[in-house]
Amino acid sequence: MLEDEEDDPDRVPKVEFSAFAKGLAERIRKNGALTLAEYMQACIAEYYGSREPFGKEGDFITSPEVSQMFGELIGAWIADLWTQMGKPAKAMIAELGPGKGTLSSDIMRILGTWPDCRAAMSLHLVENSLALREEQAALLKDYAPKFYDRVEDLPEGPLFLVANEFLDALPVRQYVRKNKKWYEKMVTFDDKAGEFAWALREQPVDISPPKGYPKPIERDIFEINDGARAVVETVSRRIDKHGGAALFIDYGPDKPTYDDSTQSYKRHKRVDVLRNPGGQDVTANVDFSALVAVAEPIVQVHGPVMQGEFLLRLGIVERAEALCLATKDPHIRGKERLAVRRLTGLTDMGAKFKMLGLTKKGSGLNPAGFN
Ligand SMILES: C[S@@+](CC[C@H](N)C(=O)[O-])C[C@H]1O[C@@H](n2cnc3c(N)ncnc32)[C@H](O)[C@@H]1O
Repeated sequence: MLEDEEDDPDRVPKVEFSAFAKGLAERIRKNGALTLAEYMQACIAEYYGSREPFGKEGDFITSPEVSQMFGELIGAWIADLWTQMGKPAKAMIAELGPGKGTLSSDIMRILGTWPDCRAAMSLHLVENSLALREEQAALLKDYAPKFYDRVEDLPEGPLFLVANEFLDALPVRQYVRKNKKWYEKMVTFDDKAGEFAWALREQPVDISPPKGYPKPIERDIFEINDGARAVVETVSRRIDKHGGAALFIDYGPDKPTYDDSTQSYKRHKRVDVLRNPGGQDVTANVDFSALVAVAEPIVQVHGPVMQGEFLLRLGIVERAEALCLATKDPHIRGKERLAVRRLTGLTDMGAKFKMLGLTKKGSGLNPAGFN
């Protein structure tokens, strides 16, 4: 999500803790501090299970919510690869963390342009929020989607998988460099201040950042997303076995860096990650170099490339012009032109987000948008 980058937690007033936050504080009092990953996992499940975070009235906006063009171009990307694969009679579209279901809806609708491709596809959604599942099922009822808790549960077969801002919602662990050792970052509750607070585990841990990281200095933070790496490995193995392609879209640096990248947004403003547990999203940068390292031995890796480059190569400008020609409504015309700028702009989502593609090694598939 890209919003006002003002990093000023004071802009949003302190909140009354919810029953969930009080429960979390109690859990810490009873069992001791949580790892950052445990804290994120609990907060994210509560957040997506209990509210509607997307869009203008929500906390942040994602690319599929900016314009239908985003999903339509990804749909065309899939149809092209399905054709390159020799038009398998049965294949799956899978989306990880579909939010409101908008991306899958735009993909499935545009696939109607290629009826034989549309007829071959079934829709599979990996979503762990029951509230969002209901919303997705209602929006996508014409496509009879099937739901799964985990990527591992997806059925076997040729797979076209998309994940927009899913990996950034998976919990990360952090280690802080102190006296030439790494200490895990923990979340505790400060009873005196009545606030959640950061702490370090007392004992150092024996870890070393992988190749590519610079030599650490004092107070460096090494962040690791085991969940994201496991998802990419599972998807890579599926593609290796059954063929198909995957497209991961997320934000994060090209090169490994020592940084605390966790962030929370409330009403489109950045807020302190510990401010309102369960009442705000908590995400972290995706380490694309770590994902490439996991995928490369198994599948053909494409990119990462910037979202703006990818969408321009796929013809977002032409699609916007076609949508503008199809309407006399100046409001819609303005909206689509603005969406092109938002989704591709170098100071906007176009540069912040990156696309990482995976195809089966030796399949000869040439996914559009990467060169
Ligand atoms: C930031 S939203 C992205 C929504 C959507 N892809 C979009 O672009 O609008 C993250 C989504 O991932 C889901 N999610 C988060 N953690 C998950 C997990 N561990 N397993 C399955 N779904 C998860 C959330 O419920 C939500 O649908």
